[in-house]
Amino acid sequence: MTAFDAKTVIASLTHAEKVDLLSGFNMWKTRAIERFGIPSIVMTDGTYGVRYSVDQIDNDMKGGQDFDAFLGVVNRRANDVQTAWGTMKAATCFPNGSSLGCSWDVDLAHELGAALARECQALGVHVLLGPGINIRRTPLGGRAYEYYAEDPVLTGDIAAGVINGMQDGGVGASLKHFACNNSEVERTTMDSVVEERALREIYLLGFERAVAKSRPWTVMSAYNRLNGVQAAENHWLLTEVLREDWGFEGLVMSDWQGVKDRPASLIAGNDLDMPESSTRKEDLLAAIEAGTVPMAVVDSACERVLVLVGRALAGEDRRPCDFTAHHALARRFAAESIVLLRNEDGLLPLDPGKAGRILVIGESATEAVIQGSGCATTTPTFVDRPLDEIRRLAAQVDHVVGTSDDPARHEALRQEALAAAARADTVIVFANTIVGYDGEGSDRRDLALAPGQDALIAALAAAHPKVIVVLANPDAVAMPWLDAVGAVVETFFSGQGMGAAVADILFGRVSPSGKLTTTFPKRIEDIPGYPTYPGENGRHLYCEGIHVGYRHYDKRGIEPLFPFGFGLSYTSFAYADLTLDRTRVGPGEGLTASVSVTNTGARAGKEIVQLYLQPTAPRLQASPRNLRGFVKVALEPGETRRVRIALTARDFEAFDPARGGWVLDTDVVTVAIGASSRDIRLEARVQCDAGVVRHRPVAWDTQPIFILENPIARKAFAGFLAGKLAVNEADAERLLEHCRNSFFGIVTSLDRRLRLRFDRDEVEALIASINAGMRALEQQPALRDAAE
Ligand code: BGC
Repeated sequence: MTAFDAKTVIASLTHAEKVDLLSGFNMWKTRAIERFGIPSIVMTDGTYGVRYSVDQIDNDMKGGQDFDAFLGVVNRRANDVQTAWGTMKAATCFPNGSSLGCSWDVDLAHELGAALARECQALGVHVLLGPGINIRRTPLGGRAYEYYAEDPVLTGDIAAGVINGMQDGGVGASLKHFACNNSEVERTTMDSVVEERALREIYLLGFERAVAKSRPWTVMSAYNRLNGVQAAENHWLLTEVLREDWGFEGLVMSDWQGVKDRPASLIAGNDLDMPESSTRKEDLLAAIEAGTVPMAVVDSACERVLVLVGRALAGEDRRPCDFTAHHALARRFAAESIVLLRNEDGLLPLDPGKAGRILVIGESATEAVIQGSGCATTTPTFVDRPLDEIRRLAAQVDHVVGTSDDPARHEALRQEALAAAARADTVIVFANTIVGYDGEGSDRRDLALAPGQDALIAALAAAHPKVIVVLANPDAVAMPWLDAVGAVVETFFSGQGMGAAVADILFGRVSPSGKLTTTFPKRIEDIPGYPTYPGENGRHLYCEGIHVGYRHYDKRGIEPLFPFGFGLSYTSFAYADLTLDRTRVGPGEGLTASVSVTNTGARAGKEIVQLYLQPTAPRLQASPRNLRGFVKVALEPGETRRVRIALTARDFEAFDPARGGWVLDTDVVTVAIGASSRDIRLEARVQCDAGVVRHRPVAWDTQPIFILENPIARKAFAGFLAGKLAVNEADAERLLEHCRNSFFGIVTSLDRRLRLRFDRDEVEALIASINAGMRALEQQPALRDAAE
């Protein structure tokens, strides 16, 4: 392949060739331009494993055939994975997003990215369509299993780790789905209605962090509408925010068939329309010929496609992949991500010599539930059977299924399990959410386990003192039996190495070190946004605003089943000596917090140290606690390490829609170091000093009280009145004071109370100059003293 210069190529392309380039080729490729020797590049899913369809990629399935095949992929359930998609190339199924996120380990995320890149290279894939990083706003979300967290800082940092790993390995990432694709209900039409502050501080922040820290080669626009505009046609989102505010220089591609108006999407900033559609190509060509899409827009999008192709080709490294080594990696990643939620009286870890007779219950102990359903689903190279892995470590292990898909058999199977449990010393139940209902295309309907399983666990726990529950589920589940069981091990969907990883944790070969990345609610009604979920008439109002996830539970004082950031270990950790390298923060300044963490137990283990900022008297409404940094540290028994968490200026700022930007306000902020969001161990205070007192922008109908309290506005209005009425400023201020108790706007109040009539243009000019004066002051805090 010869190197090419994008600009030279574009200069000699016809309109039709440009449209070809911007419209993909068949299902998973870009269009080759043979006369320049530029080949196609290959893209495929997904976020935790490579899905390689031989029919669709190697054999270039065409026309309606590929649409059917595509729907087949997305709509099929994970348990059909081996049979649904024709010939597939196997690849490692790593822990899914909701599992991997629980590692809170950016280095591990980088390792995952590197492993994914290696597999892509070996299989012939140039761009992997992931990671998917939408905020897990509700645990019911069908794609919750793909996404990392309910918090944008954690999400963005894990995503950046994965993307850097992939791109360092020469394979492009596609950061998706941009933005607010947080539910699968009416997924290609639903309008996510989200106020700008929540967008900037929660839903976009993860993307912003990932873009800043890893420069993804591509971003994928989402299927849904955002505030009334289709995401793929949303100029504000794709151009003003992504490119202009954040400086993103890569390519934006659509989600598959997500473009509805191709010319509009190109103008909005959606460069590449995937997959190929002859209708949309005709539409674009007609618009170009009619001059309604500027050629400069067409050419810069073509350039981005060619730059992507050039990068992909330059990154090619087709050495084979060692899938056996990757299976071992999958096991390790799973073990690092599993969360121990309950461990009464140190029931775990089990001592193989003392555990006695172990009864393993559950169909998923032999058919492990390792991944969710949808386009991300991978054909694994090999799947560990948890039962076999437990048998490898313990001598006496029996197995019964306990439940089945057929409710008519539940009672008999439960009785069989109870009888077997009566003969066992330890009972391990493998439980899961219903396999094959939720996933891409459908949200869950409730927080229950698969039919029969909650009742089975409750019955076992009532009869046996040592019941250990091992869960596989996309996101939070309710646990009506929680208080009665001895231990709960949460795996989420942790990929093909889950079996061995669980066995390692159960028997203490690994100390659990994962922590939850979403809050587990006690009841479905406690879920943030519950009142308006899942929307109506095609609109989904995000009624909780910025109070997403733990922010909502904290704000409303709701006790969760398990809080964000929670996870147990086989050892214990002590926190001491929190220091800050500064205790005052001004505009543009960050700080570094340091804390000593000691492993006070008898086993090696890893602790996830979390840093939250807590405002004291915020000017804008705020959540009580916001995660701003974290670090995972490995400690031998007795070992102490000093860990550092650096905060940037942005971490102290809020997005103020009234000012159209991020602002620092004056406040005392607590730096809270916790082992979870509800287990704060150390605190220190920081004085944030904005340098300016922020007053709301003034308008025609601003209440007099806000004019009087605002020195700039007060002075300007007084000066204005003095000039109009030929009185001195002190008298003018007295006139203003007469209006203090009016709840009408300043102009109406002056008009009614003082019988003064003003020229509207003059007042508008006055207001504009006041607002401009305030903006200027906010940008030059040093002037504050002079003005006030
Ligand atoms: C999904 C994307 C995926 C694409 C290609 C879409 O239905 O939303 O996440 O990358 O299909 O499979």
